[in-house]
Amino acid sequence: MSEVTVEEAIVADPELLSAIRRLLPQLSTSAPVPEAYDLETMISAPATSLFVARRGDGRIVGTLTLAVFRIPSGVRAWIEDVIVDDQVRGAGIGAALCHAAIERARRAGARTVDLTSNPSREAANRLYQRLGFEERATNVYRFSLEG
Ligand SMILES: CC(C)(COP(=O)(O)OP(=O)(O)OC[C@H]1O[C@@H](n2cnc3c(N)ncnc32)[C@H](O)[C@@H]1OP(=O)(O)O)[C@@H](O)C(=O)NCCC(=O)NCCS
Repeated sequence: MSEVTVEEAIVADPELLSAIRRLLPQLSTSAPVPEAYDLETMISAPATSLFVARRGDGRIVGTLTLAVFRIPSGVRAWIEDVIVDDQVRGAGIGAALCHAAIERARRAGARTVDLTSNPSREAANRLYQRLGFEERATNVYRFSLEG
């Protein structure tokens, strides 16, 4: 495969929107696909960084979102929505996206980078553990505001 580079998206253009809309269903079939306004909100939000992995021919083949925020216990970071196109998995693109996000969080002064991953996501869980993410003994709760 041609070389892949990872960059932080700074412009919410139609190419990025269509890439997100193409990739998101590979993570979740229930998540509503974002509209142009949603992407613009994400890109302009100071706490959110959207990383994209781009093949040598320019095609976006992966995304990752990082949120960095200040809370009383320090600056914290969360990684969400890591997706690599199923055509190009297993080539280190997921790892490259995570490395870029971790570096960004480090530069922002974050103490920790958190993420969650369903145990059924075998490739993702292997990837995160290989990168040094450690499983925490904590309960993850969600209060749904949908419906
Ligand atoms: C998880 C994901 C982002 C990894 O992307 P990637 O570019 O393949 O990542 P990498 O190549 O850096 O590493 C992936 C690891 O999974 C392995 N892998 C790749 N495809 C796999 C597959 N189909 N089944 C099992 N393992 C697989 C790789 O060999 C590698 O493991 P290793 O380091 O032990 O060799 C990608 O599989 C994906 O988008 N999955 C669907 C969405 C998802 O689950 N996102 C994570 C949400 S928490």
